[in-house]
Amino acid sequence: MIPVPYNSIVCAAAAGGAREPLFRNPSASASASVYLLQFNCNRRRINTNNRRNNNNNFMDSNNNMRTESYLRHVDSRKLMPNGAGHIPHLKAVILGEALASEEDDLVLPSKEFSDQANVHSPEQYMEMYKRSIEDPDGFWSEIASQFYWKQKWGEKVCDENFDVRDGKIKIEWFKGGITNVCYNCLDRNIEAGLGDKVALYWEGNEPGLDGSLTYSQLLNQVCQVANYLKDIGVKKGDAVIVYLPMINELPITMLACARIGAVHSVVFAGFSAESLAQRITDCKPKAVITCNAVRRGTKPILLKDIVDAAINDSAKDGVSVDVCLVYDNPVALKREDTKWTQGRDIWWQDVIPKYPSTCPVEWVDAEDPLFLLYTSGSTGKPKGVLHTTGGYMVYTATTFKYAFDYKPSDIYWCTADCGWITGHSYVTYGPLLNGATVLVYEGFKNFMRKRMYFTTNIGLCEIDINVLRETHRVHSKTTRKNGFYMASYLPAPNYPDAGRCWDIVDKYKVSIFYTAPTLVRSLMRDGEAVRYLYALMFTVYLCEIDLRINAFGFWIRVSTHQHTPMTHLVSCGLPMMVEENLGTCLICIPFPKISDCKLCNGLKGTPSLMKELDKYVTRYSRKSLRVLGSVGEPINPSAWRWFYNVVGDSRCPISDTWWQTETGGFMITPLPGAWAQKPGSATFPFFGIQPVIVDEKGVEIDGECSGYLCIKKSWPGAFRTLYGDHERYETTYFKPFAGYYFSGDGCRRDKDGYHWLTGRVDDVINVSGHRIGTAEVESALVSHPQCAEAAVVGVEHEVKGQGIYAFVTLVDSVPYSEDLRKDLILTVRKQIGAFAAPDKIHWAPGLPKTRSGKIMRRILRKIAARQLDELGDTSTLADPNVVKQLIELSDS
Ligand code: WTA
Repeated sequence: MIPVPYNSIVCAAAAGGAREPLFRNPSASASASVYLLQFNCNRRRINTNNRRNNNNNFMDSNNNMRTESYLRHVDSRKLMPNGAGHIPHLKAVILGEALASEEDDLVLPSKEFSDQANVHSPEQYMEMYKRSIEDPDGFWSEIASQFYWKQKWGEKVCDENFDVRDGKIKIEWFKGGITNVCYNCLDRNIEAGLGDKVALYWEGNEPGLDGSLTYSQLLNQVCQVANYLKDIGVKKGDAVIVYLPMINELPITMLACARIGAVHSVVFAGFSAESLAQRITDCKPKAVITCNAVRRGTKPILLKDIVDAAINDSAKDGVSVDVCLVYDNPVALKREDTKWTQGRDIWWQDVIPKYPSTCPVEWVDAEDPLFLLYTSGSTGKPKGVLHTTGGYMVYTATTFKYAFDYKPSDIYWCTADCGWITGHSYVTYGPLLNGATVLVYEGFKNFMRKRMYFTTNIGLCEIDINVLRETHRVHSKTTRKNGFYMASYLPAPNYPDAGRCWDIVDKYKVSIFYTAPTLVRSLMRDGEAVRYLYALMFTVYLCEIDLRINAFGFWIRVSTHQHTPMTHLVSCGLPMMVEENLGTCLICIPFPKISDCKLCNGLKGTPSLMKELDKYVTRYSRKSLRVLGSVGEPINPSAWRWFYNVVGDSRCPISDTWWQTETGGFMITPLPGAWAQKPGSATFPFFGIQPVIVDEKGVEIDGECSGYLCIKKSWPGAFRTLYGDHERYETTYFKPFAGYYFSGDGCRRDKDGYHWLTGRVDDVINVSGHRIGTAEVESALVSHPQCAEAAVVGVEHEVKGQGIYAFVTLVDSVPYSEDLRKDLILTVRKQIGAFAAPDKIHWAPGLPKTRSGKIMRRILRKIAARQLDELGDTSTLADPNVVKQLIELSDS
């Protein structure tokens, strides 16, 4: 008898459950139908017509499944926790109470951590928070005084109109104060004696490629670039577009712009030429700064070609770019192979080193713009979010210090790219303002993809590319049968193997590690166990199965087919589940001790899958880690626990920071030494932030509730406008609920006041923490000559959080074809960027519309999620038949 490892059986099963996003939505776990289940074994024969014999010992000589020892977990029932017992109609055994209500699951910081923390108790937080709300001017000006101001701000610390009913929205902080963010990041810290402290470590994607810059060295390089920019005529207030990969030159360029009062607009180097052109046309930069190419795997990505195409495009719209500064990256492309426009293009290495390494500071007003960053909204046109100088500086520095409990000895690593807001506030400005040592990692894009992730409705997996080739036949069969096939090539931190992150943590003694849930999930699934799952998956593909893995076990969702009254799941010694006519159910099989795994040759004698799964983490020390952080999307409790227990060895608090491009810095976040955490909750507001939850009418709801997340009153880091479109700024953010800033997110507040973010409530999809507007993808699709109409919705995706699901209507008489499907996806990649490529194209002879012509996205979301029993009332549709057609085409 093998005891069930108690802590590994925390798993949920929703009996008869619909395709609820159990995995993602923290609130779902509290629902009544969630149990800890382990199914009773009930041995039945498998339907041999549907069986695939893998030539392994899994079948006996008569082609029957071998079923020895499947009952062993059930034997160990005496070890079960309270609440265990039978569920007769399911022939299942409950192994414990309803799954955590994570609400009641408090994870406390250790006493040692709290004792040394910047904010060490709830009382201290409350006291500071109270002050920040009651006396915001006093609270923030005290903090602001710690920075260098050439001239102190005027009388008002904050001047705002936050209510559209009272006129134009206006937010000003420290107006009249004269300062410079670059000076405060570099010169001020050097004067304070940090000149020789490392400011930036750089780790290349290729192990062994690395470098570092001290604060003094960084200042020198920033000054050289600043001098160059001045020399080519860039002045205070001018825009500069930066299209660079994650090399030190990216933060250097940002700081150089800040030094001379220029406004940088960094465009993530995964955006396409079209997207870049759109941004160039909007902000009319004096210069574009890029790199000739970067390596992604063996393939060089020719960034300069993309820039050339974008500059050509924008010229057609009457916006010309006079200077294109190109960083020479010989690892990816030779100079002589780089396409060149004489007179406009110039090599970084040819000019920058010639400039003096000191450069006077351009002193600017606190309300002068610092940067523009384009982000997706619910229309096709991206929004140029504008941040200004003083408030942003004070806010990013303060949030960084408290949310990560920053100490001068910390080594800080944020995995975000500077192309997104996180890279602005928490790779560059926040940490450098604190004099921190920051690790810049070239990123997860540039790796040799030895493995890929893919999802089918028989499972989600990560496999070796070579294995994939061999099993292609199985795939296509599966695809035909079950229809829904999503192949996603996701960046994953697994080059040269899945331990890279922790290798880097040990190499630099990283103490604060800040990343995105999507990365946590992809790491969680790494490891040899996935290969095992893969084998399992293809052995049992006879029924519709959704296979998932989390830190606690395998999740298997089984839907019985009409023609397969029994569903059998059998595998190397795992407990199996057999149930008649269950419909859909979800079971979780805890990680067992596997004595001899017959299915997966490579894993013979694996002592424990759990250990296998985590060995990529556990073989590294990670002792340096103190604080972990998460951003970009809600972190599901199981990913949270894995991050906490495995990566952080159950000793590092996790700061789950909720914020947005618009907010500039953290809004709702744990203060790690102060609060008990709840896995999956962003906890409480940061100082000065007053989050409110409102109902549809905009009425504030008190206490335990859910609704739309809004913010009352401004905060220093808030964006001030959308570049060139203040009206859109007001309409999007301040008009939906007058008197408040509307975040676009849904939120639940539990009985203890903890905040649980539940995702976007507008037409924005959050893919791997990247915001993508459905309208942007739709407009890219309809630009294809054979596409008549498109409607895009988000669909739950195991790793990316949300995937992109596109319903496409073709122009008359164009037949559906695989080539066209690929072509449509390519169109989106080309127009927006690879990260926005739809995961699924669903042919749609028509779209469900109301009689007034409005597309009923609610119905499309249900079809995409296969929640066909939840379509609701379709009688108001202009043509209710459309829905039937769409369902029929679901699996094509
Ligand atoms: C989502 C990224 C839950 C949210 C900083 C928000 C989160 C959008 C979290 C902003 C979190 C970000 N928990 N959801 N900790 N952090 N989000 O502008 O939907 O790229 O509105 O800023 O990401 O994305 P953005």
